[in-house]
Amino acid sequence: MSHMTQSPLQQLTGRPIIQAEEATPMTSEVTAPRREIGSEINSVFELSDVSVFYGSYQAVRQVDMSVGRKEITALIGPSGCGKSTILRCFNRMNDLVPGARVTGKITYHNEDLYADYVDPIEVRRRIGMVFQKPNPFPKSIYDNVAYGPRVNGTKKGLDDIVEQALGGAALWDEVKDKLAESALALSGGQQQRLCIARTIAVEPEVILMDEPCSALDPIATAKIEDLMHDLARDFTIVIVTHNMQQAARVSDRTGFFTADVDAEGVRHGRLVEFDKTTKIFSNPSDKRTEDYITGRFG
Ligand SMILES: Nc1ncnc2c1ncn2[C@@H]1O[C@H](COP(=O)(O)OP(=O)(O)OP(=O)(O)O)[C@@H](O)[C@H]1O
Ligand SMILES: [Mg+2]
Repeated sequence: MSHMTQSPLQQLTGRPIIQAEEATPMTSEVTAPRREIGSEINSVFELSDVSVFYGSYQAVRQVDMSVGRKEITALIGPSGCGKSTILRCFNRMNDLVPGARVTGKITYHNEDLYADYVDPIEVRRRIGMVFQKPNPFPKSIYDNVAYGPRVNGTKKGLDDIVEQALGGAALWDEVKDKLAESALALSGGQQQRLCIARTIAVEPEVILMDEPCSALDPIATAKIEDLMHDLARDFTIVIVTHNMQQAARVSDRTGFFTADVDAEGVRHGRLVEFDKTTKIFSNPSDKRTEDYITGRFG
């Protein structure tokens, strides 16, 4: 990448960044807002040879990757390359898609996530999901956040749980005086933070986010990004994003997906490269990754 005067990460974040390989101690100015992580992954999930089919169509093939505990992992790549499909594998959401089938192995804390004895509902309680479009229930702000704990049988201490979850989602101050009002009256950015509060109220271990900021303005996006950094102290986060600045700013590791066209002209998604975000954005190993992050493709 010697032909580049500025690394893509530098272009994307507007910050000087040292090459991942030069392990000089990073100052907070250089790394902020991202953190430095080790190359070793303390993994929560491990995917090996994972393919996902919709009927006979193999949408994504042979994915091998890990998700580090209390890290933020970003999945990037052009439309249709299977990012959402892979994200849904992490909490067995594809079980709910008619005709979807997952092959290969996915472990969660070294346990086979797809074993017969694993209860997918319990999986989804521990591995929560936030969607692209904020989807609050047509209920009060309070009832949205209390929903999950109530389903789990919690009756006492709900007020505290609601306050904590709203605080964790950086929304408490904005809504504390109108908890009984409809969630639908909140702005889009507030609704998305409410959905994050609803997700963290059941104390999941992992939060999956599928383009959580794509419907939000830059200010609301910045709030959600700050929030992700705070959440990563307690939670493991996997985020799909089309916004490369966002992937570069918030994530610790990044997986770049693309779609290959086979001999019959059928497109299949695949994971091209998975590495520390600093490496992906400063010195990617694969030409396709470089072309994508520099805007020459996709
Ligand atoms: N429910 C479904 N039934 C059939 N095919 C599907 C289904 N969901 C996704 N696909 C197909 O699987 C492939 C991967 O889709 P997916 O939604 O995972 O891509 P993506 O990378 O998330 O794209 P985008 O960036 O546009 O959201 C696409 O070809 C898509 O048409
Ligand atoms: Mg998608």
